[in-house]
Amino acid sequence: MKKVRVKLGINSYDIHIGRGLLRQTGRRLKEIGFSDKLVIITDPTVRRLYGTTLKESLTSSGFKVAILEVAEGEEQKSLETAGQLYHELTDGYAERNTPVLALGGGVIGDLTGFVAATYLRGVPLIQIPTTLLAQVDSSIGGKVAVNHGSLKNKIGAFYQPRLVISDITTLETLTAGELSDGLAETIKYGVIRDEALFSYLEENIDRIKALDESTLETIVSRSAKIKAEVVAKDERDFGLRNILNYGHTVGHAIESVSDFKVRHGEAVAIGMLAAARISNELGMLDKNELIRLKNVIGRAGLPTEVPDLQRARLIPAIKHDKKIFQGKIRFVLPKSIGDVFVSEEVSPSLIEQVLLNWN
Ligand code: NAD
Ligand code: GLY
Repeated sequence: MKKVRVKLGINSYDIHIGRGLLRQTGRRLKEIGFSDKLVIITDPTVRRLYGTTLKESLTSSGFKVAILEVAEGEEQKSLETAGQLYHELTDGYAERNTPVLALGGGVIGDLTGFVAATYLRGVPLIQIPTTLLAQVDSSIGGKVAVNHGSLKNKIGAFYQPRLVISDITTLETLTAGELSDGLAETIKYGVIRDEALFSYLEENIDRIKALDESTLETIVSRSAKIKAEVVAKDERDFGLRNILNYGHTVGHAIESVSDFKVRHGEAVAIGMLAAARISNELGMLDKNELIRLKNVIGRAGLPTEVPDLQRARLIPAIKHDKKIFQGKIRFVLPKSIGDVFVSEEVSPSLIEQVLLNWN
């Protein structure tokens, strides 16, 4: 098992990454001082696949376990679902010291995190991410939220978990699309901060797609380490943490213009390529680096062409995005693989030129 520490003073915590960790969860929670009862929040698919293993580990360590289930899908990240969960927690006599375990992907993690942050003004949160995206990104760093109408993540908090348990074995049941979504974020970490991770992905992408556990463990732990370092330096997202938005300026616009038919990872892949092209046009990023990025994105099962949508709608969508700061579009641009900078000087006409003349 690998351990990554997120260093945030009294709110510091460990991320455990390894195979078969669900079975050890009861013991780990006792080690960090929990006892008595706890609550698992999950969705039907993840419950069917992993609910019993987790519950058995907890009960055999002496915990009394309640499982609360919410339906699958992004629409569950709502105040309404949070409200239902508050009722169920009250009915189950959850107290201030009752840990809440988020077992699932990013939707369950964000929703459960939001509920844990607000129920009784905060109960202990344990993240047990089961998608690659959740293991490398959403379970780390304390951003918890629900959506507000069509506005994503509008109501939320920074609320750090007490522990993150990333069981690599759970990734075996992901679909190819879900795996690729997580890979997009892993490629992102390579570009923003770690050329060696990027090279590792270039060399091992086929092993990853074949779900080789040791390779998956390596990429999850290296990604987690990068996210932990960035979050430790800028928990509240005032500066450095912005670099985690690489690929997301154009990516979010593609998701929204496509009415979320284009998956997040696919949209971020195009967004990363768009930012790299912009950087190349500005004379910052070498053409060979751009080609490396395009190749690895393609081999990860992600698109390298702008999907079929009304491209002219992308610029207004980018302008509406939250990455606009004081009226300027904020872009994370690569200088080279492993090094990025934040720019507010990219003109809408250059973005348009890159997106409209993609080929
Ligand atoms: P998801 O949570 O919707 O999960 C996708 C699907 O995979 C679900 O149907 C789920 O039941 C299923 N699933 C989960 N684990 C599985 C497993 N091991 N085997 C088989 N099926 C499994 O999607 P996601 O991509 O994990 O998360 C997306 C969410 O994450 C979005 O809401 C996004 O806003 C959020 N997010 C948050 C942050 C953050 O910092 N908080 C960062 C990135 C993304
Ligand atoms: N996923 C972006 C962040 O955590 O800041």
